[in-house]
Amino acid sequence: MNVLIIGGGGREHTLVWKIRQHPEVKQIYCIPGNGGIAALAGCPALDAGDFPALASFVREREIGFTVVGPEQPLVDGIVDYFEAEKLPIFGPNRSAARLEGSKIFSKQLMAKYDIPTAGFAEFDRVEAALKYLSHLPEQPIVVKADGLAAGKGSIVCPDLNSAREAVDALMRQKIFAAAGSKVVIEEFMTGEEVSIFAITDGRDYLTLTPAQDFKRALDGDRGKNTGGMGSYAPTPFLTPQLREVALRTIVEPTFAALQSEGIDYRGVLYFGLMLTSGGPKVIEFNCRFGDPETQVVLPLLGSDLLEILQAVHNRTLGKLRVELKPAYAAAVVLAAGGYPDAYEKGREIRGIPENRDDLLVFHAGTRRESGRLLTNGGRVMAVTALSEASLQAATEKAYQAVAQIHFDGMHFRRDIARRAWEG
Ligand code: AMP
Ligand code: GLY
Repeated sequence: MNVLIIGGGGREHTLVWKIRQHPEVKQIYCIPGNGGIAALAGCPALDAGDFPALASFVREREIGFTVVGPEQPLVDGIVDYFEAEKLPIFGPNRSAARLEGSKIFSKQLMAKYDIPTAGFAEFDRVEAALKYLSHLPEQPIVVKADGLAAGKGSIVCPDLNSAREAVDALMRQKIFAAAGSKVVIEEFMTGEEVSIFAITDGRDYLTLTPAQDFKRALDGDRGKNTGGMGSYAPTPFLTPQLREVALRTIVEPTFAALQSEGIDYRGVLYFGLMLTSGGPKVIEFNCRFGDPETQVVLPLLGSDLLEILQAVHNRTLGKLRVELKPAYAAAVVLAAGGYPDAYEKGREIRGIPENRDDLLVFHAGTRRESGRLLTNGGRVMAVTALSEASLQAATEKAYQAVAQIHFDGMHFRRDIARRAWEG
């Protein structure tokens, strides 16, 4: 069978790497792909947002299954389009993808069904938002754009004055255009963060190894929020007992809520949780696999991924048994000079080690030109290492490989996963 993956980041490189292991997969295509994916998959120059062109390509190349990586095409309805054309695809439809596409939608759903999350208020007028802030006692608070903003739409504010500035930036200066025309103002929560990927066919669900990612740019969780500077799994912070609590109070009630609302969610639902002193609470939902968590979670999946994704499409997930490897994985993201602000592109990358069973380099912002590998994005690649012995051993192995790689301006965090074993 031929398979198409939509997207071109580290998550998609990992999806291509994993799906390629399926015994019946012949050719994989990835749109737009990247410099690493191009070694494993055909990367035609098509626009991932042009659904009719994608559907024609799928028919022409006899592609039997399509997997969508990023949120934008899901929120824009790629699944609805493909299903109307009778083309098998993995991912939630447009209505279900609102869980990520609209913070107000997801907060209202959680409020209606008593799913634990930060307390909140929503606004579509800047004056009302500012007035609300003026009545609060001084405190840290979070201001979020309602719509998609490439992962940058949540602004954590240390005090009310920065919250007023955030409201102004979103609603008046429109730094994220229409995505910020409505906002959610949210209680600030503290605790360890956990990412749980729950794959569902609308009836049954399974969860993959719980992970943690590192969103801030600098060591010690300082600096700006990024797309993610590293990750590891499994995370010891989600103890078996807390996992049970999270499944019982959050994951299962969310799927039940979607059913009650008549929303057919088929795909992976990413539960971004905060383990607060009052129990696990939802920070956010994403309607897709996380990046860079996928780069550690899929190497720990013993079972065939394509079989799982097809079972979701066919609503036969309940028949599958899934094996999670009893091992540890850590991924360190190498970023371009300047990232997460304006960054450089076109720098030559050298010293990438050969992939082994316990060491995998997943490309994100890279491209090939005349035999050279060049940087082509803010997050350039992730180095994933695995160990059966310990998380510390996996992390140290990843950093040894990182030490061999070089490009001008390269920077990375030196404390990925450290908190998990140092406490
Ligand atoms: P989001 O885009 O909603 O995932 O938020 C990005 C990051 O901002 C999260 O991973 C958290 O670190 C932080 N964050 C978001 N919402 C809250 C909150 N209510 N309290 C504390 N931190 C938050
Ligand atoms: N790692 C966070 C995300 O994928 O949104």
